[in-house]
Amino acid sequence: MTNRAAILWETRGDWTVEPVELADPGHGQILVKMKATGLCHSDDHAVTGDMPVPLPLVGGHEGAGVVETVGPDVTRVAPGDHVVLIFNPPCGHCRNCARGRSNLCLNTAQQGYGQQTPFTARGESVAATGDLGTFADRTVISEKCAIKIDKDIPFAAASLLGCAVTTGWGAAVYLGEVTAGDNVVVIGSGGVGVNSVQGAKNAGANLVIAVDPVDFKREQATTFGATHAVASVAEAAALLAELAPGRMADVAILSVGVSNGGLLAETVDLLGPGGIAVVTSVTPAASTSLELSLFQFTLTQKTLRGNVYGGVNVHRDIPLLLDLYRNGHLKLDELITSTYTLDDINQGYADMHSGKNLRGVVLLED
Ligand SMILES: NC(=O)c1ccc[n+]([C@@H]2O[C@H](COP(=O)([O-])OP(=O)(O)OC[C@H]3O[C@@H](n4cnc5c(N)ncnc54)[C@H](O)[C@@H]3O)[C@@H](O)[C@H]2O)c1
Ligand SMILES: [Zn+2]
Ligand SMILES: [Zn+2]
Repeated sequence: MTNRAAILWETRGDWTVEPVELADPGHGQILVKMKATGLCHSDDHAVTGDMPVPLPLVGGHEGAGVVETVGPDVTRVAPGDHVVLIFNPPCGHCRNCARGRSNLCLNTAQQGYGQQTPFTARGESVAATGDLGTFADRTVISEKCAIKIDKDIPFAAASLLGCAVTTGWGAAVYLGEVTAGDNVVVIGSGGVGVNSVQGAKNAGANLVIAVDPVDFKREQATTFGATHAVASVAEAAALLAELAPGRMADVAILSVGVSNGGLLAETVDLLGPGGIAVVTSVTPAASTSLELSLFQFTLTQKTLRGNVYGGVNVHRDIPLLLDLYRNGHLKLDELITSTYTLDDINQGYADMHSGKNLRGVVLLED
């Protein structure tokens, strides 16, 4: 059985698609035939070096597939099961898991780069992104990183539950604490941000203002529930001043592809008293400064909050999101603008950079 994977060998290199050897599943591990994997911007941070990663690296952390074989003592899934792959699998018993913050499980390394890998290429061990490595025909993962789903869910739609949908949805519903009547701004309406838009809408938001410089993203945002779509943060501020003077935004979510301290400050400035800013975007690891009126920040009682995996509990929220999908409250199929073969993965990322895709998805052949 020949397996291929998209590997990053050097910072700023292309993904190279080539044969890989795959280890057999060990204790508690499963071998998954990948069917679909989303092209999340986070994998591109590995390419640019904004996110430090070990190299060489098999990319991909947003995927769905079929369990092909299982190792000893696997109890959660069986061959033939359809699964969504998850990173940061919760242990279920640490302090954070026990208090409802399983995305911050204390027994899982943040992204687990390179801690365990089933991949070998060119005679070298190759790390697997998030201990998953979904840019591959097949991968071997812990059974804890698989959530079983019903077989009628299309793989491409299911793959996006592995990151974009959960992260974006949770940014609004859990970390932003959006409640009925809130005014929400989402800055950057790409694959992740547009799910904050649909999260805010589902939570009963009043104004949902999507900010994106790309016309296509703004058009899409309105079909996902945005009440307004504007091209810049300055326009969003002017709109809030007109529609909600004094009150401004209750929640502002930063979801651009690459963030910086200036954008973080602009996000906080959109908030009215008591507002919550959620930072979903990754800022290059070397960035350490943020200029903010600290006087204002204190005396308007604002919150500035990071985001890991939308604050979701994958075991609760992946089934919950699929229920909403089945009943027409959550759009998944519509998130996918273009599909690619694994060989075309670099084109997929080029299309992400040129603003063509809400989400590009690679479909893996049988
Ligand atoms: N925190 C997490 O757990 C987590 C998980 C997934 C992704 N992310 C991060 O979220 C961010 C978004 O990821 P994505 O896959 O949606 O990326 P994307 O490229 O699909 O979307 C980014 C969007 O931001 C828009 N944009 C760029 N500059 C802008 C600006 N100045 N103002 C407004 N909009 C702007 C782009 O046009 C694009 O539509 C990335 O930084 C990614 O790494 C974080
Ligand atoms: Zn992601
Ligand atoms: Zn835990």
